[in-house]
Amino acid sequence: MKILGVDIGGSGIKGAVVDTKSGELLTERLRIKTPQPATPEAVAATLKDLVTQIGWDGPVSCGFPARVIHGEVFTAANIDKSWINTKVEKLFSKTLGTDVFVANDADVAGLAEMHFGAGRDYQQGTQVLFLTIGTGIGSALFLNGKLYANTELGHIKMYGDSAERYCSDSARERFDLKWKEFGQRFNEYLTYIEFLLQPDVIILGGGASKKFDKYAECFTVKTKVIPAQTLNLAGIIGAAMYGELRLKEAKK
Ligand code: BGC
Repeated sequence: MKILGVDIGGSGIKGAVVDTKSGELLTERLRIKTPQPATPEAVAATLKDLVTQIGWDGPVSCGFPARVIHGEVFTAANIDKSWINTKVEKLFSKTLGTDVFVANDADVAGLAEMHFGAGRDYQQGTQVLFLTIGTGIGSALFLNGKLYANTELGHIKMYGDSAERYCSDSARERFDLKWKEFGQRFNEYLTYIEFLLQPDVIILGGGASKKFDKYAECFTVKTKVIPAQTLNLAGIIGAAMYGELRLKEAKK
């Protein structure tokens, strides 16, 4: 199926038409700066701009950095607070004049990673936790290869605040941490996660996963921790895969 996959982030909105079977991009990846303030209406207008520039009139599906349940946004950790309780699928569909699907960004990136990346070998009989380390920490939990959505494990409490405030990639920059120092902090987080979930494997994606080798030696958890393979295209490819799932569901 051909679907326009869009990755909506705090600094950029990126999209490309994806062949969901092969995971290949059929158009060049286009990136437009996220408008500031990134209110629902402004983001919807930028999304329309992106779709027009790509020249696409087929289905559109987006990853979005918040808890999204049945098309409605419920959290706003790193986005404009006016998103809370916005019916995002309705808003985008109305703006584009076509059906638009929206899900959590880490969940959709996890779909791509499980199908085309490091998660391929961990399907039936395993519990996989996919974490994205960027501005925040995103999480996607897969039980027997099936997504358990909206887990938001970047917000478990550490030192009285969300874990992502302590050891996301933006926290590393904010605290001016060396990679080893970051690794030690992230190891504390992984220890907590391991205690809570005991997954079989943890896959690290997002910006900081590109530097995996610089800090992975700090990890003392028993759980196997491996870097993602689909890297910065996971958000776009996974968004398209999510759209395909929704379209198939609608046909049932
Ligand atoms: C948000 C999540 C998102 C993650 C990565 C967190 O701050 O709460 O919904 O998946 O950032 O963007």
